Amino acid sequence: MGQISFTLAFISLIILPLASLSTSQRHCTSPDQVRAGYWFSSSNHYSPVSSINTSLYTHLYYYYITIDPVVSTVALPPPDQVPLFATFSATLKSSNPSLKTLLSIATDEHQSSASNAAFSTMAADPNLRATFITSTIELARANAFDGLDLAWQLPASSIDMANFGILLEEWRARIDEEAQNASPPLLLTATAYFSNHLFEGPTDNLDYPTDAISKNLDWLNTLSFGFHKNSNITTADAPLSEKASHFSASYGIISWLDAGIPPCKLVMGVPLYGRSWFLKNKVKNGIGAPVVASGPKQKMSNQTGMMAYSEIEELLTDTSVVVTYDNSTVSAYFSSSNLWVSFNSLPVVEEKIKFALYNRLLGYFLWPISFDNSNCTVSKQASDVWLKYYDSPYFKDGYLFRQAAAPFELPPLDDSTTASAAGSRAKQASLKGLNRHLHLCLLLFLFFYQTIV
Ligand SMILES: *[C@@H]1O[C@H](CO)[C@@H](O)[C@H](O)[C@H]1NC(C)=O
Ligand SMILES: *[C@@H]1O[C@H](CO)[C@@H](O)[C@H](O)[C@H]1NC(C)=O
Ligand SMILES: *[C@@H]1O[C@H](CO)[C@@H](O)[C@H](O)[C@H]1NC(C)=O
Ligand SMILES: *[C@@H]1O[C@H](CO)[C@@H](O)[C@H](O)[C@H]1NC(C)=O
Ligand SMILES: *[C@@H]1O[C@H](CO)[C@@H](O)[C@H](O)[C@H]1NC(C)=O
Repeated sequence: MGQISFTLAFISLIILPLASLSTSQRHCTSPDQVRAGYWFSSSNHYSPVSSINTSLYTHLYYYYITIDPVVSTVALPPPDQVPLFATFSATLKSSNPSLKTLLSIATDEHQSSASNAAFSTMAADPNLRATFITSTIELARANAFDGLDLAWQLPASSIDMANFGILLEEWRARIDEEAQNASPPLLLTATAYFSNHLFEGPTDNLDYPTDAISKNLDWLNTLSFGFHKNSNITTADAPLSEKASHFSASYGIISWLDAGIPPCKLVMGVPLYGRSWFLKNKVKNGIGAPVVASGPKQKMSNQTGMMAYSEIEELLTDTSVVVTYDNSTVSAYFSSSNLWVSFNSLPVVEEKIKFALYNRLLGYFLWPISFDNSNCTVSKQASDVWLKYYDSPYFKDGYLFRQAAAPFELPPLDDSTTASAAGSRAKQASLKGLNRHLHLCLLLFLFFYQTIV
């Protein structure tokens, strides 16, 4: 008798971990990689859809249309953009038939608080959610999009966060239902804050509903940039790593992974814009130098302090301008007289893509591809690095470095401890998992022992 129960316990020891492995992977099926780009509809006058080199992407996002605050359906694009919107998918797919297009439904940048409130109202009401969901599916299908993206920036309360989860649940159910008549199902993604925990916004101390995200989304895009818009010193605006704060791409990605989003559902954002400032003293031009104002408004971004990659490249044609690669943050910067710019140079893009590969992420997205130069140099760099190393055994297990653990713990003070701290945390996590299995096995063992003996 004792032997039988022991055998059963032994079998459970083998089967349980296998069972849990298969459930956690069930949601990670297709696609197997994402090399995405956001195309801003506002950029059509300098970056027409027909100029996009579609072979550099697996997925392209139309960014954006928003929510109608009165009736809670998606708002149709403004009349002058309707022809563009209606032909977006067909134009792109004519040069790359395997490309997938997604429609991003985002907070209206020109009235963000009212727009966020409209998302909040819709998400809180079952009837409005149903209206919204139906309108999104109909609009996507009518215009040949392959998927939908929710870019609500940002849910601002714990109620919003809970409703965000419910919305995803219902959206997924509707999409699956609709796919029975029109397969394949639409993709469903969301574009979210860089970390699973909100550090800014009306309410601090909020977490995203990670279970609903894992369960219902095809993947999640993280806005892993734009950390220091209002800084009064020069700083890397989208560092991969940051010793003294949480505001880094790697911190954010690890926070999502630690919160339980599987890597095969995470897509990391890489910006094609730089952040600029006017220096207080043009001789003090390293990181951490005092600034007096945001940099000049540029044609492409149409915002002060924001410079498109192609506009940066124009400044770099001046041979007296020297780009510094900062190893500790993995960022690049330069100054030209009293203008100072932090940006993602090609080596930075390479390191970020490698970071995504090391962490076995589903992919990356570029924000926005409209800011690239006419040769699509950044998109090409990202795609080349990804494809070159995608199958490399070097990237098969593990990561080079991870930054910081739980939301409130500051990263370690120097790089050499980062990798080992992260390694030991990963070990702790897997031990935790193993412990759970051992506990279950022990319970089963005791159960059988008691009933049989
Ligand atoms: C588009 O990108 C691919 C891949 O890098 C390249 O081979 C091709 O020449 C590019 N096409 C154009 C029109 O630039
Ligand atoms: C810059 O901002 C920080 C934090 O907001 C503040 O503590 C500091 O005094 C400011 N420095 C200057 C020179 O304005
Ligand atoms: C640039 O932004 C201003 C508002 O700041 C707006 O009035 C103008 O239409 C924008 N220009 C373009 C070309 O988008
Ligand atoms: C940057 O850091 C990496 C890893 O710590 C190191 O191998 C490399 O030599 C450094 N490069 C420079 C230019 O300091
Ligand atoms: C694009 O590539 C061509 C050929 O390599 C080069 O002559 C041209 O300067 C490049 N343009 C930009 C904007 O990089």
